[in-house]
Order: sequence, then structure tokens, then C-alpha cells
Amino acid sequence: MNAGEASGLLITFEGPEGSGKTTLIEGITRRLVAAGEEPLLIREPGGTDIGERIREILLDPASEDMKPETELLLMVASRAQLVREKLRPALEAGMIVLCDRFADASVAYQGFGRGLGEKAVKELNAFALDGITPDLTLLCMLPPEVGQARLEGRSTDRLDREAMEFHQRVYEGYRTMADGGEMRFKVIDAAAEPAQMLEEAIDQLKKLEHGLLNYL
Ligand code: TMP
Repeated sequence: MNAGEASGLLITFEGPEGSGKTTLIEGITRRLVAAGEEPLLIREPGGTDIGERIREILLDPASEDMKPETELLLMVASRAQLVREKLRPALEAGMIVLCDRFADASVAYQGFGRGLGEKAVKELNAFALDGITPDLTLLCMLPPEVGQARLEGRSTDRLDREAMEFHQRVYEGYRTMADGGEMRFKVIDAAAEPAQMLEEAIDQLKKLEHGLLNYL
């Protein structure tokens, strides 16, 4: 979290649809629990009662008339609630928090995918985040056509159903972050087997050299 504040650790997981993030989070959680940790697992949009209600509106295929601006504001609203209700208290209590998507998803999906632009999204994110920044963001990178093929046959939500051009722009958004030089972003090859993805991710966690992870 913010430099100078308490001692927790925020690790976020990002990537296109079908990139195996959820399996990766499960694997990391097992490793942490085996070592006696009790990580907090949260997801976005959602993660609080209010956020989960917002998530339903966002992902419901019946919300097909939703405007990009509305979509962004609802994502950010869910985030503002999560930060204040759960995330900041957990980090201040020194916990390890694993978050399945976070503020960068709004940059990729609404900024690049919907074309609202990085600047507008980052300004709104700043309002929601109240100074909190992930310590590590694992970008599970997979070409969108591969991700979409993996989703076939699985129930898909309103955003999954978007056209391939939309998913291509989202991917470009994540690539821009990966190439942007910000140290917290680390790319995981999501075309690899789940076991290899897990080892790559654990290597990145070890590099954080955070006291909470000494046993890894
Ligand atoms: P997921 O739980 O399958 O990742 O679904 C969440 C969907 O919401 C996914 O399509 C990505 C999208 N999303 C955004 O468009 N913007 C955001 O800020 C977040 C957190 C998610």
C-alpha cells in the first residue's frame, strides 16, 4: 500500500478474459494458507455487499443499454466502497490481500476498450483509491482470441460478450501498462500451464522481499 503506511500487502491480478487469473489466485492462496497465512481474497467489481449488487447490474446481459460513462462510474463506485469498507482496514491490520482485478481493469476496459481514455479513468480511480496502490500487479497476458476460445461453453456476462475488437483494445491497454515501466507490473505468460504460471507468480512474490512473505 502507500509508502509510509502500515504493513499489509496488496497484490492484484489482471488480464484479459480466460487468462487463468482465478486458478492462479487459488494456487497462491493454497501456498499462503499452507504457510499459516490467512490472505483476504476479494474481487472487482464487487467484494462488498454493495459492490456485489453493483456487479450484478454491470455484468447482467440485460444491461445492454448501459453507456460507457455509466459503466465506468459504477466500476469506480464499487471500488470506492471496497477500499473504504475492506481494503484499507485489511492493509492497516497487516494482512496480505489478493484482489481479482482492480483499478487497472478500468484503465484497460473502460479507458482503452470503451475509448474513454486513460486520463479520465485515472482521475476517477484516484478519487476512489484514496492513495492506495498495489504493491504488485500480476498481468496474466494472453492474446484475446485464445482467451475468448477458452471461454466457449462457459456462461458469459455482458462484457465477455463484447466483440473481438473490444477485447483486442483491452489487451492493448494491458500491454501498454506492461511496457510503461511502472515497476509494480509483472507479466505472467498465461499461455503456459497453470503450474508454471503459479511458479512464475511465486517468484515475483519472493522478489517483493516483504517480511510477510519470508517463508515462500
Ligand atoms: P471477471 O470476474 O470475470 O473478471 O468479470 C469482471 C468483468 O468486469 C470483466 O469482464 C472485466 C470487467 N471489468 C471492467 O470492465 N472494469 C473494471 O474496472 C473491472 C474491475 C472489471
